[in-house]
Amino acid sequence: MQHTGSIKEVRRLLDRESGKKIALVPTMGYLHEGHAALIEAAKQHADLVAVSIFVNPLQFGPEEDYDTYPRDLERDLNICREHGVDFVFHPADDEMYPEGMEFTLGIKTMADILDGVKRPGHFEGVVTVVSKLFNIIRPDIAVFGEKDRQQLMVIERYVRDFNVPVEIIGVPTKREESGLAKSSRNVNLSGEEYREAPEIYAALLNAAEQIKNGTVNTDKVMSFIRLHIEQKTSGTVDDLAIYTARGLEPVENIDQDVIIFIAVQFEKARLIDNLYVSI
Ligand code: PAJ
Repeated sequence: MQHTGSIKEVRRLLDRESGKKIALVPTMGYLHEGHAALIEAAKQHADLVAVSIFVNPLQFGPEEDYDTYPRDLERDLNICREHGVDFVFHPADDEMYPEGMEFTLGIKTMADILDGVKRPGHFEGVVTVVSKLFNIIRPDIAVFGEKDRQQLMVIERYVRDFNVPVEIIGVPTKREESGLAKSSRNVNLSGEEYREAPEIYAALLNAAEQIKNGTVNTDKVMSFIRLHIEQKTSGTVDDLAIYTARGLEPVENIDQDVIIFIAVQFEKARLIDNLYVSI
């Protein structure tokens, strides 16, 4: 496995591999089994797998956890080796943003809901770094997790809008046995919070069950979820919404496939999850 923090070097390494199908798995590191599932999916679709590891400052708000975001490059490189990754690109901030950014990518409406509102500028920062990574690595395929479903949908739309020649593949959320979605941020939970956090997914599953049993009113379903989280965890519901799966439109009475989105704030970690409910 080869690894470098230099754009010039990663381009030189990849140029040697011309003709091979390259898959990119963009990450912010502190890799876990969710990232590993993306790497495995990448292997199935390409000849070579590149993983990028970069905690992108542009996608964090001033009050967010950029400073406490967990980082451990050696550990990450070992995980990549174990999973048969071919290249790891781990640039420093000034390699990616030597002069800041003069140009910005704007998002018209997809950032007007959920984390686009809770984290102003977040998705613009994500699309900017992903766009740069695509230009640096020039992958044929890029793999993203459904764990961050709004992100996945924003990137799919960006690629369509700008005719970016990269095929986007989405991978289902990897969970602990408890149901807790794997996340680099889980290490910032206290022991107690870690025991409570599986209730997020439990609440989503309960809600899906209620919908299937005929509770179609969105507000009613959401108040059940809110109550569940309030009663069974010390976290607070920071965001909760149900949107149509097709266009992420609001829905009053659930009569088509929907996605339930939730964000729960614990003391030092904000956890997000979502569940696709087919009708
Ligand atoms: P990060 O949070 O490190 O996630 C990297 C990729 O792993 C994303 O596509 C994310 O959806 C996926 N992922 C995380 N947890 C997962 C899980 N439990 N199951 C399946 N996939 C999971 O998302 C980012 O980084 C950044 O925003 C990035 C796209 C790298 C741009 O900076």
